[in-house]
Amino acid sequence: MARNWTPDSWKAQEARHLPQYDDAQALADAEATLGTYPPLVFAGEARALKAELAGVAQGEGFLIQGGDCAESFAEFHPNNIRDTFRVLLQMAVVLTFAGKLPVVKVGRMAGQFAKPRSAPTETKDGVTLPSYLGDNVNGIEFNPESRRNDPQRMVRAYSQAAATLNLLRAFAGGGYANLRQVHQWTLDFMGRSPWAQKFAETADRIGEALDFMEACGIDPATVPQLQGTSFYTSHEALLLPYEQAMTRQDSLTGDWYDTSAHMVWIGDRTRFPGSAHIEFARGIGNPLGLKCGPSLEPDDLLTLLDTLNPAREPGRITLISRFGHDKVEAGLPRLVRAITREGHPVVWSCDPMHGNVVKSDSGFKTRPFDRILSEVKGFFAVHRAEGTHAGGIHIEMTGQDVTECTGGAIAITDEALGDRYHTHCDPRLNAAQSLELAFLLADMIRLEAGGRQADAA
Ligand code: PEP
Ligand code: CO
Repeated sequence: MARNWTPDSWKAQEARHLPQYDDAQALADAEATLGTYPPLVFAGEARALKAELAGVAQGEGFLIQGGDCAESFAEFHPNNIRDTFRVLLQMAVVLTFAGKLPVVKVGRMAGQFAKPRSAPTETKDGVTLPSYLGDNVNGIEFNPESRRNDPQRMVRAYSQAAATLNLLRAFAGGGYANLRQVHQWTLDFMGRSPWAQKFAETADRIGEALDFMEACGIDPATVPQLQGTSFYTSHEALLLPYEQAMTRQDSLTGDWYDTSAHMVWIGDRTRFPGSAHIEFARGIGNPLGLKCGPSLEPDDLLTLLDTLNPAREPGRITLISRFGHDKVEAGLPRLVRAITREGHPVVWSCDPMHGNVVKSDSGFKTRPFDRILSEVKGFFAVHRAEGTHAGGIHIEMTGQDVTECTGGAIAITDEALGDRYHTHCDPRLNAAQSLELAFLLADMIRLEAGGRQADAA
């Protein structure tokens, strides 16, 4: 257990990007309510995920982490949950099949509400209001009432997270994720994408493999892995009053776990040494993500890891690099070398979203798909050169047919961005773009495996 740590010891440290609540009693009431609610996950599940990630850290697996930039109360709908889940399943199948590697699936779902913002206020037509900070803090509508921070929103976010997680568990274990259903996971509107056709071919081959195995006596009734899958949840542990209220002592081990999700991560803006967010994270037993942007110095990263993972437990830390397509090849090697030199057992994952935001001519915040692909390629190239394992991908995506990132095989143009631009924060890959990315990842993974075989020969 971490020394001199309590669930509220973060309060003595510098906290950035936390909302101010004008009614202290209302905040205390909401925290007290959450404190009596059931945990959303069990500590044993967080440990199971850590064990799976330890395999990835050793080069034996790949992590897919994806979902909304910001979940919202408005987009809360079973179809949205199902569609994001099934695109993640499709991506996982493509990678498992191509890479012959187990794929660990983690949603940015069931709790990904709070957002750090670049400016504390927003001005429109001469009116200045506090920025939108995520649906668990205030509302996106541009009026003073909606932009007021309301602690009761945390309670509503908890309920939405609970219902979302319940449906995800049902899908993962109740038959929807059965490999026999693999053809059904393709969404109708993806028919126009050449990658949907390629997915159908992969699905055919999986079907043949299952037929063969069944003839040999191996079928879903005897092998539970074919009937369902493991699926985990994650979000940025930004809103510390909420995370603290969800932090409980595990009855089996006596260790503390943040029971709001299986995995939580620390954002690029709150990962400075001495931050309240680092202090909170060091004491919880969950697997942790740490965003690594261009401003992170190798020495600071090592200091952070000494704080967050002094025992060097494999699977505890996933480093999520988010440099930008033009900076990854120059910036990432320094971090990789420092980690390798010190022998930290981390998962290296690539977030090709947050370093590649541009403003389109039509005024929308977007991310060109070719830059996203280019950062992914750069990330794999760095790991190939350093002899380390490119272990995962972290993306903002949705199963919906949105028009938020430009490009892709069903090309979304600048002019089309306004058609279905629904995100509550950053632009997401749509279902077709996500699948296309999975096929590119499959090529990269095969290349890495080919390199390993060549080295061994
Ligand atoms: C995010 O993942 O939504 C995010 C804010 O990322 P970062 O901390 O890397 O900027
Ligand atoms: Co984002």
